[in-house]
Amino acid sequence: MLTQPHFLSIADYSARELRVLLDTADDLKRHPKAYRDALQGKVLAMIFEKSSTRTRVSFETGIFQMGGIGQFLSSRDIQIGRGEPIYDTAAVLSRFVDGIMARTFAHQTVTDLAKYGTVPVINGLTDLEHPCQIMADLQTMRENFGKLEGLKFVYIGDGNNMAHSYMQGTGKTGMHCTIVTPKDAKYSCNADVIAAAQADHAAQGTTLTITDDPKAGIAGAHVVATDTWVSMGMEEEKAERIAAFKGFTVDKALMAQADKDAIFIHCLPAYRGYEVTADVIDGPQSRIYDEAENRLHAQKAIIYHLMGR
Ligand code: CP
Ligand code: NVA
Repeated sequence: MLTQPHFLSIADYSARELRVLLDTADDLKRHPKAYRDALQGKVLAMIFEKSSTRTRVSFETGIFQMGGIGQFLSSRDIQIGRGEPIYDTAAVLSRFVDGIMARTFAHQTVTDLAKYGTVPVINGLTDLEHPCQIMADLQTMRENFGKLEGLKFVYIGDGNNMAHSYMQGTGKTGMHCTIVTPKDAKYSCNADVIAAAQADHAAQGTTLTITDDPKAGIAGAHVVATDTWVSMGMEEEKAERIAAFKGFTVDKALMAQADKDAIFIHCLPAYRGYEVTADVIDGPQSRIYDEAENRLHAQKAIIYHLMGR
């Protein structure tokens, strides 16, 4: 089924493996009871250095629905927060539990957990990537259009974890991708992530376009996405960021440039009036609650394949 022992980055996964995960997520959505005992007695440790609503609740609910249990471990309460090395934490947790999901600041923390532990490690968001979210988003897009191949995906906003995972995910699933970030390089995507995603897009015969022009970028889009301008850990830059993203709000006028059947998605939490207007995110093109629900099914698919072996 899957050759990967961990789920750290979309970039590690082949197109075939992503399809397996998406098909399982769809099946879990249709037939949740069929998986009732799939993770009987299994334990997932869930380390959080940052806040979470969807990620925590989808994993905790998901493993419970498959017969296992999730343990919420705030970094404030476990010894990591007091400086216990990651390698000791990874080795010790591996003696207790069957999998580790972690939401961290540094991406290296999740790769180190994988390196020093002996159980599957899942990236529940780092400053660099948010791969679990992208699985739910791909599931949502496929539900809407019946396919992913040939769709034009456009992201307008900060060159952050979401932007990175979107360019990776579209590069494995036959979608064209446009990323619109401000001119100021501070808000651009990571150059290494872009280069690797460019190679994936070239290999599958699609385009990855990086631009600073929201109106040109969104033209003909089937899927429009944005994200907060102030990611977790950047709160002190809020005023500066609001100024830097002037003209980047996804509003009705901008959405009018997209395809007439375009959908709008957002990983949430959203800040209405900043990255998106209320009439778009709460309007008929929005799929945000289907997308949020799909976190449950997509996350269950990941733990089913990694921990159910
Ligand atoms: N989209 C997302 O990851 O939400 P949370 O921060 O609430 O987990
Ligand atoms: N880019 C956001 C995503 C939140 C789910 C952040 O990192 O805070």
